[in-house]
Amino acid sequence: ASADPTAYFDAVIAADGKIEPRDEMPEAYRKGLIRQIAQHAHSEIIGMQPEGNWISRAPSLKRKAILLAKVQDEAGHGLYLYAAAETLGIDRAELYRLLLAGKQKYSSIFNYPTLTWADVGAVGWLVDGAAIVNQVPLCRCSYGPYARAMIRICKEESFHQRQGYEILYTLATGTPEQKAMAQDAVDRWWYPSLAMFGPPDTDSTHSAQSMAWKIKRFSNDDLRQKFVDMTVQQAGVLGLVLPDPGLSWNEERGHWDYTQPDYDELFTVIKGDGPCNRERMAHRQAAWDDGAWVREAAMAYAEKKKVTT
Ligand code: ACO
Repeated sequence: ASADPTAYFDAVIAADGKIEPRDEMPEAYRKGLIRQIAQHAHSEIIGMQPEGNWISRAPSLKRKAILLAKVQDEAGHGLYLYAAAETLGIDRAELYRLLLAGKQKYSSIFNYPTLTWADVGAVGWLVDGAAIVNQVPLCRCSYGPYARAMIRICKEESFHQRQGYEILYTLATGTPEQKAMAQDAVDRWWYPSLAMFGPPDTDSTHSAQSMAWKIKRFSNDDLRQKFVDMTVQQAGVLGLVLPDPGLSWNEERGHWDYTQPDYDELFTVIKGDGPCNRERMAHRQAAWDDGAWVREAAMAYAEKKKVTT
């Protein structure tokens, strides 16, 4: 260790390098990363529920196979992220415990219901689209294991976004009823997707520190704007309307003006009072309880191996 314990850390951050698990790092950096990576991992795992809801009702074998693959990808993302969090010295079982005890969060977006097949399209197009905008800059985050995990995740999210877009395109160019179903899904998912980026910069508790440490590369509002600009154009191609009468091109700013999501609603959902919070947590708890015998059997088998070899 050097005389100044943060000298190495400060130099790596200033040079845009990567901090690795065995490097010295400020305790707040370690804790902040565990908070964000765990929340991200939990989101991937809880996010399997709203889409899993449609696996048995997908409209064709092909659609079902694609959706199954997508939901499995989300499980994989959760596992890379739990592994990345573990490099910071916290046990995966402890992260599950903190989630189930309500001490760690997951993204607000997964507390909304998927009411129709078109919702699977809207989740892919808007929710995964928002996730990509948020996550591509995380590939350049200063913590090595998190940055590297994000590379593969972003590639897979791009495929997810395309499959959602293709579902909506098929519906939007189908019968009038199908087009209405697609529009209804977009009407319900637009503002919750905007809220995924978090509170406005003025109310964001962690942004300033996270940006100084190069965990976050852009602020919540900058990413939200980027998402709006990208999505308005794609909605035009789909022939669907984003449910915001306030959307208008601002020549001076070079961006679309838009109506902010309801941040009181975001905080209500984050606090546990969204439409599906209880259902999502109950399902997660049941999956944990139902898996107890598998964990016990694996431990017993490992013990037996240790004795005989
Ligand atoms: N849902 C749930 N909680 C949120 C959300 C949201 N959409 N947005 C902000 N919050 C929470 C923050 O976690 C923080 O609470 P905490 O201190 O208890 O952790 C609080 O609201 C204030 O927000 P910020 O200070 O702005 O938090 P932060 O700097 O961490 O920014 C963000 C939030 C943008 C979500 C960031 O954590 C991030 O980029 N995370 C990685 C990506 C991610 O988790 N994506 C999950 C959804 S996408 C998917 O999995 C498909």
